[in-house]
Amino acid sequence: MTKILMVCLGNICRSPLAEGIMRQKIEELGLNAKVDSAGTANYHVGHSPDRRSIASGLTHGVDISGLRGRQFQVSDFDEFDLIYVMDKSNYANVLAMARGEDDKVKVDLLLNAVKPNSFREVPDPYYGGPQGFENVYQLINKACDAIARSLNINR
Ligand code: 4NP
Repeated sequence: MTKILMVCLGNICRSPLAEGIMRQKIEELGLNAKVDSAGTANYHVGHSPDRRSIASGLTHGVDISGLRGRQFQVSDFDEFDLIYVMDKSNYANVLAMARGEDDKVKVDLLLNAVKPNSFREVPDPYYGGPQGFENVYQLINKACDAIARSLNINR
């Protein structure tokens, strides 16, 4: 069982969408994996995803309305095998909490799943319009396809 954690800043825009998209692929392909999401900040603990993220998911048949925000914690390094962060700021914040090399090797930028070491970011859509959320959906979907393929090959 591969345990995957999707991480952004607030856990209301990008990472819940990543959780919902990845969960759907795991179910469709019957992969031996589970997925969760968290934010590095505590602003939105217990909150529903942003309505714009919910809408962009629903457009593509992914319902994330039932998810609730939670904050990333050190014990997530024990709980998860792969920790995917959306941008370089999330990357720095998560690495700063790592207790050693074993924790650090679990962390990667989500879009590195599409192109290793490309260090592209899923941009924060919070202050933009709906087009930003569609862009985020497309980027995350591509990355989750790549992750699903690698889980499928390696099982
Ligand atoms: P997320 O987006 O990290 O993709 O969930 C954000 C959500 C909330 C805030 C920033 C980014 N905020 O500043 O409250």
